[in-house]
Amino acid sequence: MFGPTLAGRNGVSLIPPTLEHYKLRTSWVVAPEVGRFWGPRFGELTEERQEKRFKDTAESNTEIEWSIAYEGEPVGYTGIFGIDWVRRDGESGIIIGRHDLYGRGIASEAVRLRTDFAWKELRLHRVHNWIAHANRGSRRANEKSGYKQMGLQPRTFFRSGEWYDEWLGEAFPHTFPEKA
Ligand SMILES: CC(C)(COP(=O)(O)OP(=O)(O)OC[C@H]1O[C@@H](n2cnc3c(N)ncnc32)[C@H](O)[C@@H]1OP(=O)(O)O)[C@@H](O)C(=O)NCCC(=O)NCCS
Repeated sequence: MFGPTLAGRNGVSLIPPTLEHYKLRTSWVVAPEVGRFWGPRFGELTEERQEKRFKDTAESNTEIEWSIAYEGEPVGYTGIFGIDWVRRDGESGIIIGRHDLYGRGIASEAVRLRTDFAWKELRLHRVHNWIAHANRGSRRANEKSGYKQMGLQPRTFFRSGEWYDEWLGEAFPHTFPEKA
């Protein structure tokens, strides 16, 4: 399923993805700056595949996804995947595809909006994620919305000839900062 529009601060909002947004992703994910600590560096990067993904995600009852907009332009996407509605738990992820915009607080605001929605609208109990420990930007963006380290898996992420530790984070409604 796709999430609704959530207006945030500093020009950031979460909006329902369109097929055009999905088609932008094929160029985003192959940029070395974007794939430094994210995803496989190969795959079926065709428009047809994106059309199928768009349809499958829209129909799914176990994932929710948004495009991230910055000053009205789509710049990335985020969501909660593999939602178990009995345990009320899911795994979150985020990618800013426009690497020229890194460091402006876009991910921090997108994670804040997504996490707030997880507690107040989806009534989830927990959200967790796995982040390469060296990916400080992703860790920090999540920590500021209440994610805390629950574990560290040594040398489980492999990229560009090197093994990296993975940071396992989890967030609960009570860890969401009051002033967020
Ligand atoms: C990781 C990513 C989401 C961060 O997005 P962003 O919009 O640049 O993040 P923000 O500007 O909100 O920054 C969040 C925090 O991380 C810090 N940060 C951002 N990029 C950083 C970097 N490359 N190195 C160190 N710190 C960094 C910021 O200073 C900020 O910290 P602070 O609030 O304590 O000062 C973005 O770089 C990205 O999409 N990368 C590619 C995909 C990816 O790795 N996704 C996450 C997979 S788990």
